Amino acid sequence: MAKVLVIGGQGTIGQAVAAKLKEHGLHVVTAGRTHGDYLFDMTDPASIATLFAQIGELDHVVVTAGETHYAALPELKPEDNLKSVNSKLLGQINTVLIGQHRLNATGSFTLVSGVLKDRPIARGASSSMVNGAIDAFVRAAAYELPRGIRLNSVSPTVLTESAEKYADYFKGFDPVPADKVANAFVRSVLGIETGQTYTVYG
Ligand SMILES: NC(=O)c1ccc[n+]([C@@H]2O[C@H](COP(=O)([O-])OP(=O)(O)OC[C@H]3O[C@@H](n4cnc5c(N)ncnc54)[C@H](OP(=O)(O)O)[C@@H]3O)[C@@H](O)[C@H]2O)c1
Repeated sequence: MAKVLVIGGQGTIGQAVAAKLKEHGLHVVTAGRTHGDYLFDMTDPASIATLFAQIGELDHVVVTAGETHYAALPELKPEDNLKSVNSKLLGQINTVLIGQHRLNATGSFTLVSGVLKDRPIARGASSSMVNGAIDAFVRAAAYELPRGIRLNSVSPTVLTESAEKYADYFKGFDPVPADKVANAFVRSVLGIETGQTYTVYG
């Protein structure tokens, strides 16, 4: 049975992805800072390395974690923008850089970006920047991964389950259910494509 690590597997998207991958017969383990089968911090490369060493044999990694800072541009401070870079961007990219040496042949990574790279909103510039960088990394890095390991990303719009939380930001957006977003992750893990970004914009 193929084994998949879902980083952020206790979160809104991660829970839906983990459930769907289990339905497809995968052995799912989860990781997060405070919840999950393994505890670690994606912003710390040493912690990522320890996580992979603890898990051992692994076929696939899905990341549904990473935070970005929302602020109007005149109030966006370099140190707050750096928080987005260190968490959602470098957290995921360092997971690939470190994890590529640990995954079994023909495994896969699936990262998460988001709609703001294509459809900007007020206070969203830091998120747009990070999401665009994630997808650009995916497109380029997929060519060079060893042993047939694939790399894709999923770019969701706001989820139905998160619509209330982000109501002030995503005005006029049509939310999509977590179940539909989770299916894009499943397609990446169980499919054959690489270097792709699956948009789920409703
Ligand atoms: N929800 C949406 O509508 C939506 C739409 C588009 C894109 N996205 C993106 O999708 C990702 C997940 O969103 P979500 O709504 O599912 O978030 P969520 O419910 O807050 O879940 C995030 C998960 O990631 C873990 N996590 C966060 N930072 C971590 C770190 N540094 N190291 C390890 N684990 C960490 C959290 O667990 P701990 O707290 O235990 O660490 C949590 O389980 C985010 O990057 C978000 O930008 C979300």
